[in-house]
Amino acid sequence: MKRDFLRLTDLSSDEIGMLMDRAADMKAGRDASNCPLIGKSIGLIFEKSSTRTRVSFEVGIYQLGAQPIYLNPKEIQLGRGETISDTAKVLSRYLDGIVIRTYGHERLIEFANNASIPVINGLSDLYHPCQTLADLLTIREKKGRIEGIRAAYIGDVNNVTNSLIEASAILGFELVIACPEGYEPSYEILDSVRDKGKGNIIIVGDPAEAAGKADVIYTDVWVSMGQESEAETKKDRLRGYQVNSSLLGCAKKDTIVLHCLPAHRGEEITDDVIDGPNSAVFDQAENRLHTQKALLEFLVR
Ligand code: CP
Ligand code: NVA
Repeated sequence: MKRDFLRLTDLSSDEIGMLMDRAADMKAGRDASNCPLIGKSIGLIFEKSSTRTRVSFEVGIYQLGAQPIYLNPKEIQLGRGETISDTAKVLSRYLDGIVIRTYGHERLIEFANNASIPVINGLSDLYHPCQTLADLLTIREKKGRIEGIRAAYIGDVNNVTNSLIEASAILGFELVIACPEGYEPSYEILDSVRDKGKGNIIIVGDPAEAAGKADVIYTDVWVSMGQESEAETKKDRLRGYQVNSSLLGCAKKDTIVLHCLPAHRGEEITDDVIDGPNSAVFDQAENRLHTQKALLEFLVR
């Protein structure tokens, strides 16, 4: 049976651990089967902009021996009104897997329900699980473990946060989310991970409280793709949630700073922090490549 990766809970904690090991091996060049996907074709449909996700997938697919086929949504019939279900059924006859970046998460679910090939979420309004795999590898590299760490997420609660919430629940680390009142994670998101039993998700209003004793400080843009009409209100409400040197002063000396990128320097994070000694953001970006290669090998082979 095909497996999709639409959200982090599509994998068990053992499977995530196995993917971390495999990604680390691939990164270190300890890559026994060099081209496990030789002869395969993987499609990519991106309805939103992307630098890291698109390029790391295209390069990773090529390195695994398969060919990436980028399908500009404006140039395929999906963009002219062909249904998601017909598109999914047809592309399943040609491709061995597909990566989709879109708006409504339900579009991904509909595609996956009608496809006979693995569907990978390259970001939706609700989740960004491929990002989380890279985040977890980065935390493991820098902190030596994931379970038991304390991570602080500061700022806008969004698709990246939702996937971190799932990671916390599956893998058992503490996630302290600092956000303004009214911007908290939705009840549905928190409820959907309650049965995972692990982790500890704490929501606070004060960023300094979240940053205190944190092993990891994570932030993301205040205005995600598709939210442009709310930009001014959100920036106003989130102004006190900047990750800057004074906030870093509240954290442990060896805390690492993560950001999925792209960053809006001077808004959610300052130059001195993103370019400073605690920042691991470019290792984190590199890890998109290694973790997605491990994921593709696992799902598509
Ligand atoms: N972090 C991330 O997904 O970046 P892109 O939007 O550039 O793909
Ligand atoms: N939350 C951001 C992540 C970008 C990678 C967005 O959805 O725009």
